[in-house]
Amino acid sequence: MDCLSIDTLDLRVQETEVVDILKEASLRAHTTLAVNASARLMVNVTANNDLRALHRQEWFAREPVLVLGGGSNLVFASDFPGLVLRMQTTGFEYLRADADFHYLRAEAGLPWHVWVMWTIRAGFTGLENLALIPGTVGAAPVQNIGAYGVELADVFYELEAFDLQRGEFTRFDRDALGFGYRDSVFKHELQDRMVITSVTFRLPRRPNWRIDYAGLRERLAGQLLSAKAIAAAVCEVRNQKLPDPTRLANVGSFFKNPVIESALAHRLKTQFPQMPGFPQTDSRQKIPAAWLIEQTGWKGYRQGDAGVSGGHALVLVNHGQASGRQIVALAQDIITSVAAKFDIVLEIEPRIIDSAAMPN
Ligand code: EPU
Repeated sequence: MDCLSIDTLDLRVQETEVVDILKEASLRAHTTLAVNASARLMVNVTANNDLRALHRQEWFAREPVLVLGGGSNLVFASDFPGLVLRMQTTGFEYLRADADFHYLRAEAGLPWHVWVMWTIRAGFTGLENLALIPGTVGAAPVQNIGAYGVELADVFYELEAFDLQRGEFTRFDRDALGFGYRDSVFKHELQDRMVITSVTFRLPRRPNWRIDYAGLRERLAGQLLSAKAIAAAVCEVRNQKLPDPTRLANVGSFFKNPVIESALAHRLKTQFPQMPGFPQTDSRQKIPAAWLIEQTGWKGYRQGDAGVSGGHALVLVNHGQASGRQIVALAQDIITSVAAKFDIVLEIEPRIIDSAAMPN
């Protein structure tokens, strides 16, 4: 797809009365890591009222539920023994403006990049640095997606979610969501309890361009700054560094960048003077996991069809028929060898689904 084009995607709001329940549904085509896995039950949610209808079913409370957006941050190490809700609502609307911001709402199933490009086409700014991130609008708050100096929390106003326990819609503002680095309450206490159905964005009326990331400023030199120009530069940087999941299956960064104590950073810098590190506000240092992985010799590694991207060491890839378990086993080997060399324990970023580890 042309990075700046949204013409190929259907943006209609769809409404259905009937909820089709698919049995033993393959998930391979619905996750960007493209591993073979299936859901015992799956529903394509095309209207938010489908959630109410499902909640009314007598069997519903017994099923483990997993919400699927673009499937770009999930690794299926096993089949899923319950109900997968595949969010496909794609409506959006302009709500209002105040002195400083425009407020816009988008439904959960809208592909993230389509939404970014629609806002840019319509003359809004604020999402340009987040162009080309795989996934959907509804998944964006879960891990507080971020890239090139901007994260979702910077442009987030509120969201609406369906509470699977109470069977009702509820709203959350920014303060309720515990946003952190690739983190929110949806990865902790609210995991699997809420289905995010829409997100309201707060986009600045006066542009606040963020082009400090190495590589962006150079690409934009001599150009009149605009959201479109920045998004195009971001697309170029991403395409150069990160494998396109539609060509080489992956879930983006497989590990978080670790934040380490200053004493350990100091010791490692003496031993490895080339080690990059970014000071945090609390004197700790954020170290690029990609550097640690490359230094332990994993970049470009391949065993069977599970591998590490040759372009970016933070991305694990499925060359074809790797299973989720093989990818996770590779991640564990990487964690072990990085810990042995640097005394840093990497944390896996995407969610691993493994029925063996689920409560009965
Ligand atoms: N590096 C290596 N080897 C590599 C790649 C990178 O040594 O193969 C080192 C370099 O020193 C480089 C540094 O790692 O300067 C940082 O690399 P990069 O700028 O590509 O960013 P990152 O820290 O690896 C994070 C996000 C990305 C996001 C980029 C840009 C995380 C876990 N990842 O990666 O997000 O696109 O910054 O902002 O924070 C994602 O979450 O899936 C994702 C791709």
